[in-house]
Amino acid sequence: MLGEDLVLFRDLSGRHGLLHKHCSHRRTLLEYGIVAERGIRCCYHGWLFDIDGTILETPGEPARSRIRETLCHGAYPVRERDGPLFAYLGPPEKTPDFPVLDTMAQPGNDMVPYSIDYPRNWLQVAENPMDPWHSVFLHTRATRAHFNAAWGAFPVVEWHWMEDRVGIYLTNSRRWNEYVWVRTAENMFPAVAQPPDIYQDADRELFFPRVGITKWTVPVDDRSCRITGWRHFNPTLDRGGKGDRAKVGLGKVDFLGQTGTERSHEEGQRMPSDYEAQVGQGPITVHAEETLGSTDKGVAMLRRGLRRAIRAVAAGEDPPRAKPNADGTIPSFAGDVIIRVPKSNVDDVALQREVGRLVGRVVAETLPMPAATRQAEIERRVRAGLAALGAAGAAPG
Ligand code: FES
Ligand SMILES: [Fe+2]
Repeated sequence: MLGEDLVLFRDLSGRHGLLHKHCSHRRTLLEYGIVAERGIRCCYHGWLFDIDGTILETPGEPARSRIRETLCHGAYPVRERDGPLFAYLGPPEKTPDFPVLDTMAQPGNDMVPYSIDYPRNWLQVAENPMDPWHSVFLHTRATRAHFNAAWGAFPVVEWHWMEDRVGIYLTNSRRWNEYVWVRTAENMFPAVAQPPDIYQDADRELFFPRVGITKWTVPVDDRSCRITGWRHFNPTLDRGGKGDRAKVGLGKVDFLGQTGTERSHEEGQRMPSDYEAQVGQGPITVHAEETLGSTDKGVAMLRRGLRRAIRAVAAGEDPPRAKPNADGTIPSFAGDVIIRVPKSNVDDVALQREVGRLVGRVVAETLPMPAATRQAEIERRVRAGLAALGAAGAAPG
């Protein structure tokens, strides 16, 4: 991870360790080490390393050897959270609280962990969630609907900085029959993204069911990265029952074309998806050869925000970090609002834009609220806001 060669293990007392992969003695790989009651023992000459890098034994050395007191092996702290293991690779004196998003603490929510490796630079994979236009084309119009037909309707998309520029959220508003469907999605710097329900359909009213995915996209090295996160399963999501827990796990997730292993090259040509599109950009996509358009505003914002954060950290500042609410969880933006607004003789694109802005504003304003009451409040404020729009002549009464 992050350009470092590391070995992850669980010792016989059940503790996880993440150590530099090459032994401090003569550099053989600790991935051939033998796990011990406490730590891991190098296979070559038996040096024993604790999970914090303390050298516990150098058995071939004389008792008076000072190696154990003068040397510490590289190690990072690890913790498990709902399946995946997380490591903090920054300076120890700046260790942050573990970031628990509100979506990771929902009652009755089943979080199924997954991870996917991409043989590509992390940025072109990480910026994809700020590009909802690809859902119109790649996922729907070009390929006859990976999810539901409503995804092919042209949306009105707007992108917004989060407070203190800790991330970006977008509002993605479209008409589908009698409904206006607004999705909010987010990227929090440096690497967290949440899309709403991946199988959402705009065929009834809904007020802010939460996310289908919480994921981190992390560089392995310059030319490869790993997505790690969870698929969320609960009764408010995926009402059409298209998701499949059995297809979620190591190297797999339950929607089409997300890995390089499940399909042949020809199948990828016939029905391309995210994997083909992002791998197709090359090992490290060349920004100088791109032609960004108006649909790429979120991608451009993401790159600017990251560049700004990288420069700030290089100058000694702390990285941008979202703040938790009183309950200790970080409130997030992603969800769907689907509201019945029959078509009328007003400018419908302008209407979609107004409803999108209304939902975005309400979602942002309700961030400080307890999760248990936020959803009902979002419904109340969106309905009231829509009535006000109607009174102003922007929406049908
Ligand atoms: S190389 Fe690991 S103990 Fe010698
Ligand atoms: Fe996608």
